[in-house]
Amino acid sequence: MKITVNTLQAMAAEGHKIGMLTCYDASFATLLDEAGVDILLVGDSLGMVMQGEDSTLPVSMPEMEYHTRCVARGAKRAMVLADMPFGSYQESPAQAFANAARLMQAGAHMVKIEGGAFMAETVRFLVQRGVPVCAHIGLTPQFVNTFGGYKVQGKSESDAERLLDDARVLAEAGATLVLMECVPATLAARISQECGVPTIGIGAGRDVSGQVLVIYDVLGVYPGRKARFVKNFMAEAQSIQGAVAGYVAAVKDGSFPAPEHCF
Ligand code: KIV
Ligand code: NA
Repeated sequence: MKITVNTLQAMAAEGHKIGMLTCYDASFATLLDEAGVDILLVGDSLGMVMQGEDSTLPVSMPEMEYHTRCVARGAKRAMVLADMPFGSYQESPAQAFANAARLMQAGAHMVKIEGGAFMAETVRFLVQRGVPVCAHIGLTPQFVNTFGGYKVQGKSESDAERLLDDARVLAEAGATLVLMECVPATLAARISQECGVPTIGIGAGRDVSGQVLVIYDVLGVYPGRKARFVKNFMAEAQSIQGAVAGYVAAVKDGSFPAPEHCF
């Protein structure tokens, strides 16, 4: 059965972990789908892992449409979630809808936008018009230039309170999922309990509704810096299918992330 927004809510409510991986092409979409990955994220991380850029900022709308179309052709059961690239949604809710519609027409079932409570109006605008939204908070890579680097977020008491408020406000605005990147595990657990919608973590500990990693990190092929939260599942597998199955099993049984992957 196809994964829908309802499936995700039911999984979170029943304590079944949601497994997500990034995916950029049709062959991997089929492989990940068959391995039981619930959500295929067409991440703008493709700018770094496929294009060799040093941030996600150069990724364009036509590139995201192209990869979304490729992934959608390979996905059967999994939900296709597409990142809105830098500059495609920040200007206004109307700009966000126009570009979200292009990703939905390319085969996405949901879009992801980065930013806190200030994006709530945009979330509401999209959801009311038929576009489910995943809200990405914490270390939002499109903000690397204002953050001054890729750093753990929500470490001070005031930053933690702000992130909790961001999650609540975005959920209230209609976000289907709240994705948290690089936040302390205790804070992510609290946000997960209090925000009212399923949560996905990457470097956010295990007390969230599901996990995501970049597929190139799971397979150990990305030559860049290896983040603390990454695990190379290829190291203990005989094949790519085996590595992906290992990731799915570890997310589902709660053994990934282990304490050494958390902040
Ligand atoms: O683009 C991406 O891969 C992402 C995940 C790291 C959450 O946004
Ligand atoms: Na992204």
